[in-house]
Amino acid sequence: MTMTETLSPLWQDQFKRLEAGLKVLHDKPEETVEVCLQALWLKAAGIAVSPQRADQVARPELDGAQAKALADLVTERLDGVPLSYITGRQSFMGLEFITNPGAMIPRKETEILGRTAIDLLDRIGDVAGGRRVIDICTGSGNLPVVYATHDPEARVGAADLSEEAVALARENAKLHGVEGRVELRAGDLLAPFDTAEFHGTVDLLTCNPPYISDAKVEELPEEIGTHEPRMAFAGGSFGIDIPKRLIADAPRLLKPGTGWLAFEIGLGQGPFFLKRLQKNPEFTDVEGVPDENGDIRVLAARKA
Ligand SMILES: C[S@@+](CC[C@H](N)C(=O)[O-])C[C@H]1O[C@@H](n2cnc3c(N)ncnc32)[C@H](O)[C@@H]1O
Repeated sequence: MTMTETLSPLWQDQFKRLEAGLKVLHDKPEETVEVCLQALWLKAAGIAVSPQRADQVARPELDGAQAKALADLVTERLDGVPLSYITGRQSFMGLEFITNPGAMIPRKETEILGRTAIDLLDRIGDVAGGRRVIDICTGSGNLPVVYATHDPEARVGAADLSEEAVALARENAKLHGVEGRVELRAGDLLAPFDTAEFHGTVDLLTCNPPYISDAKVEELPEEIGTHEPRMAFAGGSFGIDIPKRLIADAPRLLKPGTGWLAFEIGLGQGPFFLKRLQKNPEFTDVEGVPDENGDIRVLAARKA
């Protein structure tokens, strides 16, 4: 930031407003006052950029109408509208994604699943005709787009119960030029791909399911509870309904001996799901992937 920018009265006024009222969510620590204002400033200038990318874009001068727009955007943010829904962008694994209230905003913690999936793809190695990868509960399509971008030969499928999420995932596939290689379907969990064509053929199946108990969903911060789709978080009485169904149904789709399942779990769910997978004769090589605090946030297992 230059000295002139630092001293811009418009910047300083809006900075003070945000500093006084902004509540930063624990799962989006990167959205500081400075990052937030920079992203909103760019939005007011007509530049849609994720909070993570905002500091890499030069700040243009704003005319009178844009300055007024900035003040309105700051008000919106202070009213609790998620920053990424205002900017219309979120970064995930270094790629920009379109965001809208039809799907959950991709979280940094899900990059553990993204990185695990990329590692597994490398471990699986070459497959004649390209590796077949399916992502379930795909939301904005962040994970399948990462897979298709990482592996130009991969045949990628993805699905979500929400039609709005599937529509957004289509937009994101298009944004990254992989719409011809990511097949998007709407439906309940694995059902859209639970057909003879897919049985026993999938090299990697991933999922970031809803895993918060229905009771805890009611206690989510207002910014999440009011603006992001409830369906993305509510995982039944104990938050384990969808992962349990995933573990039961995935073996039908996975390639025997070489197909991998990898999915994100909630904080504290690691030991339960680790045991459940280890006891399941359909799986072998069960692995828990920890976050930086040592908590298991992703489980991976190979089809026996
Ligand atoms: C935690 S979000 C994950 C979104 C995205 N994969 C990500 O990581 O950012 C869970 C997603 O599961 C979807 N979902 C919830 N129940 C589902 C079901 N029974 N079948 C398929 N998708 C479901 C929600 O619509 C939501 O998009």
